Amino acid sequence: MKALLSRAGLLCEFPPAVTLVEVGARDGLQNESAVTSAAKIALIDQLSASGLTYIEAGAFVSPKWVPQMADSHEVFSGIQRAPTVTYSALVPNLRGLEQAIACQADEIAIFTSASQGFCQHNINCSIEQSLQRFEPVVSQAQQLGLKVRGYLSCVADCPYDGPTPPEQVASVAEALRDLGCYQISLGDTIGTGTPLRIARMLEAVRKQVQAKQLAVHFHDTWGMALANLYQSLSMGITTIDCSVAGLGGCPYAPGAAGNVATEDVLYLCQGLGIHTGVDLQQVAKAGWAISHILGRRPISKVSLALYSKLTQKKT
Ligand code: HMG
Ligand code: MG
Repeated sequence: MKALLSRAGLLCEFPPAVTLVEVGARDGLQNESAVTSAAKIALIDQLSASGLTYIEAGAFVSPKWVPQMADSHEVFSGIQRAPTVTYSALVPNLRGLEQAIACQADEIAIFTSASQGFCQHNINCSIEQSLQRFEPVVSQAQQLGLKVRGYLSCVADCPYDGPTPPEQVASVAEALRDLGCYQISLGDTIGTGTPLRIARMLEAVRKQVQAKQLAVHFHDTWGMALANLYQSLSMGITTIDCSVAGLGGCPYAPGAAGNVATEDVLYLCQGLGIHTGVDLQQVAKAGWAISHILGRRPISKVSLALYSKLTQKKT
């Protein structure tokens, strides 16, 4: 593949392999009220069989703030755990950590924002207060041998504060790394970023945190998620957050649409010769099943194209 691109004068350095972090059961379903615990469990079990190695299975946040995640206990205890998969939980405080431990989550993820407005609206505190709140969460998790991932929201724009300066993203990313997060997931929460702005942001962050410790988390509100991902891959990012069927959004980010669809990421990686270890057909099947429950079609263009090819063959 490299030789081919090189001959065509298109050589751009892409990583040979990437890890996908499947966030559909958490980010994807935190906005959806009509999904039962049994349906969430079935979705995670299907995804576990697809070759994915990392699945965020739920969130131990306040049920007053996000009622859709209130059944995360049931979900964690109902799934069939595949030994090859890390099942993680989103945790906002010590109370959330206790629940994640009780449910035997393999890892936890803490979350803050690069902008004050979203931080306040999403977790009811300033960025500085959030970092203080996370200090004991991270240290207790580490004492128990639990790895901690950090989410950093609004890396391009904030629905409350407007554009986020790249240096501000870099500074909070550095703080999360120093707190003990082994990886920082950079979230374009409202999906307004474009490749040049994402490149500038990544350039600033990479001065403080190594690319191998970063992940990207693109929402596709303005249709730029795959373009932003392509840009990120060319800048050495090797972990990609994505969501089956393109589900996703955040109740505290008005207007935010779904995450980049796992199916679309898989097709892009396939085309670039980047190894994922994930079976596109199986993810697409899981995506159709959950979309059926939600009463709509998957948002993934790749999934729709696969379906149309399949039905054309049958007729
Ligand atoms: P607060 O109201 O400031 O805190 O919320 P509180 O301590 O007063 O708690 C309020 C109530 O919740 C209390 O109950 C607590 O006991 C309870 P009451 O006494 O009123 O009956 N509570 C809890 N219950 C269960 N589990 C807990 C817990 N903590 C408190 N862990 C808090 C502060 C952080 C708790 C709240 O703001 C919260 O839970 N926020 C979560 C919001 C959220 O989940 N947003 C979506 C995820 S983030 C996202 O989607 C972005 C991301 O995808 C990346 C991207 O796209 O950018 C990650
Ligand atoms: Mg998100």
